[in-house]
Amino acid sequence: MTMKGERSEAGDPQAAGEETARHLPYPSGWFCLERSRRVPPGRVLTRRFMGEDVVLYRTSTGRPHAVRPYCPHLGAHLGTGGTVEGQNLVCPFHRFAFSPDGTCVGTPDGAPPPRARLQHHTVRERNGFLFAWYAPDGTSPTWEIPGTDHARVRPTATWSTEVSTYAQEIIENTLDYRHLPVLHHVAVEELDPPQTQGPLLRMRLRLGPDRPRVLRESVKADHTFLMAGLGYLRVEFPLPALGLVSYLWAMHTPAAPRRTRMLVATACTDIHQQATPEASLPRRGLHRAFAHAMLRTAVGKVHQDLRIWNTKRYEPRPRLAASDDAIGMFRHWARQFYPPA
Ligand code: FES
Ligand SMILES: [Fe+2]
Repeated sequence: MTMKGERSEAGDPQAAGEETARHLPYPSGWFCLERSRRVPPGRVLTRRFMGEDVVLYRTSTGRPHAVRPYCPHLGAHLGTGGTVEGQNLVCPFHRFAFSPDGTCVGTPDGAPPPRARLQHHTVRERNGFLFAWYAPDGTSPTWEIPGTDHARVRPTATWSTEVSTYAQEIIENTLDYRHLPVLHHVAVEELDPPQTQGPLLRMRLRLGPDRPRVLRESVKADHTFLMAGLGYLRVEFPLPALGLVSYLWAMHTPAAPRRTRMLVATACTDIHQQATPEASLPRRGLHRAFAHAMLRTAVGKVHQDLRIWNTKRYEPRPRLAASDDAIGMFRHWARQFYPPA
């Protein structure tokens, strides 16, 4: 109820404008749909992507595809019983077959209808992840996700969840050094400040426990962070004493407005594995053990963030302190992924 002399918030254009500013539209870029191994040849899966279903499948030659879900014939959902037959995706309703370029190439009783096409999303596969490109105006990709130095590295351990926040808010967390000791009990030292190069943002931090420990210095590690758009974060940290290098990916895919699917994955490999074809069995066991331990630690930290993310609101004009420089520059960099205001 509005008291005499007060203005109703619903009728207040300034309040309405502030509420609009708190809403972030879907950003452009590459967003992870699934791990490659979950989509073997012949498998058809449905995932949420920018408020719509996407049907993911892989043909018999191994090529992955992601299409809009509804058949152009009479609108059946291709993720509900659609099948892969050779190179084609076949609709479960009347068995119209669609080739990899989206053209309808056959029906059970003869010629395909003219102009019946499936709409494809542009897809890439990197390090065992499948990505789809999104641009609000439907334009083609203008950049690519950089591969890892260890081209053969694939995620060993993974964990996923859904969060009631924006992909931008989750990525921003990485540049919010101030929350690391408070929420995660992690001490941070900036080795290389954030540097941007178009859609990429790189920085190097030294991270370790913030409480005195006997082995405190030995458990500090130098982490190289790479962000590619607002959906992809990769952290690389070498463990030279063990001849290992570890990778952590955190990928954020908008599923609906203010709803983001988060995938955390880890891998570990020998630093020099580019040169050797295959690690020995005991080394592979060590890689797996490290990857799983790393994932447990990372997921523990994400749980500490989840409580904040799920209840915070997006502040379009945050009141930043002097030591929040990295957040300010991140906000500036992030603007490129949205349509002009
Ligand atoms: S609805 Fe797909 S073939 Fe008829
Ligand atoms: Fe955090």
